[in-house]
Amino acid sequence: MAELTIHFGDNLPVLQGLANDSIDLIYIDPPFNTGKVQRRTHLATIRDENGDRTGFQGRRYRTIKLGVQAYADIFDDYLAFLEPRLREARRVLKPDGSLFVHIDYREVHYVKVLLDVIFGRASFMNEIIWAYDYGARSKAKWPAKHDNLLWYAKDPDRYQFHLDACARIPYLAPGLVGPEKAARGKTPTDVWWHTIVSPNGREKTGYPTQKPRGILDRIVSVHSRPGDLLLDFFAGSGSFGESAVRLGRRCILADHHEEALRVMERRFAQFQIEWINWTPSLACLASAEDGCPDANERRAFLNSDLEIVAHAHGELR
Ligand SMILES: C[S@@+](CC[C@H](N)C(=O)[O-])C[C@H]1O[C@@H](n2cnc3c(N)ncnc32)[C@H](O)[C@@H]1O
Repeated sequence: MAELTIHFGDNLPVLQGLANDSIDLIYIDPPFNTGKVQRRTHLATIRDENGDRTGFQGRRYRTIKLGVQAYADIFDDYLAFLEPRLREARRVLKPDGSLFVHIDYREVHYVKVLLDVIFGRASFMNEIIWAYDYGARSKAKWPAKHDNLLWYAKDPDRYQFHLDACARIPYLAPGLVGPEKAARGKTPTDVWWHTIVSPNGREKTGYPTQKPRGILDRIVSVHSRPGDLLLDFFAGSGSFGESAVRLGRRCILADHHEEALRVMERRFAQFQIEWINWTPSLACLASAEDGCPDANERRAFLNSDLEIVAHAHGELR
């Protein structure tokens, strides 16, 4: 098997094609508002002589927006999209496998309840807060500067947790712990301080929502062993896949956006990859110039700055 297997397409059939108990570690970073979400405003009418509508026998009615109902619908649809994928994720995990779901503060509580139903509450191991400090600061409320990572173990009595493989971090007050401990550093807690992917840094691929390798390297090192098989079925720019391969694991990735696949082509140019349902641009243009679908777009992509591609993703968070 190649270091990386990359699928183009909806992740549900990809998951359905994987064997039971075959994956050691899954990380996902699903988008919010996938397009499956129905934004319905629920209206009710009540009799009101000054109302905005005319009904039966010329009676006047006033329209009221039932905002709470609309809110519940949005979350129902989002969870209905996630649920079959999370059920598949549990099925394909090995008995000592773990799932990490990277989510934001608006969705985390709903997704936690869904995961408790699918995995059982006992399988919930940690909520990790990834705290960063970047971008505008609201003056109307506390600026939200964190993401949430929910960790579920398929079996809460048997899972991988190699804390000794975790890079140690500096003490906040090294003067209080003595020189030996200060030099060794400490292991992290469930609050992980880490910068976002720097807009000017070398790690940047140009894909919006790209997550930093520092966070993913920690998950891969502590929750899997070299040689293990990992999975990210909302792959985006493939950050989790890069962490996996650079740390000696194999990884399956899936995404249904062409731009994501193109970014991964460039990012993984030196890796051994099995492409499923996708012909990489260079091969496509070289071997079948006339038959290559979207040839002009692909040629332009190969010459382009990836930031242009990023703008096409305005709908992603
Ligand atoms: C938040 S981004 C992931 C970013 C990624 N963690 C990174 O570091 O680049 C979510 C990705 O999920 C993909 N996606 C959304 N719905 C999908 C589906 N049903 N099947 C496959 N991919 C999907 C989107 O195209 C997007 O690239």
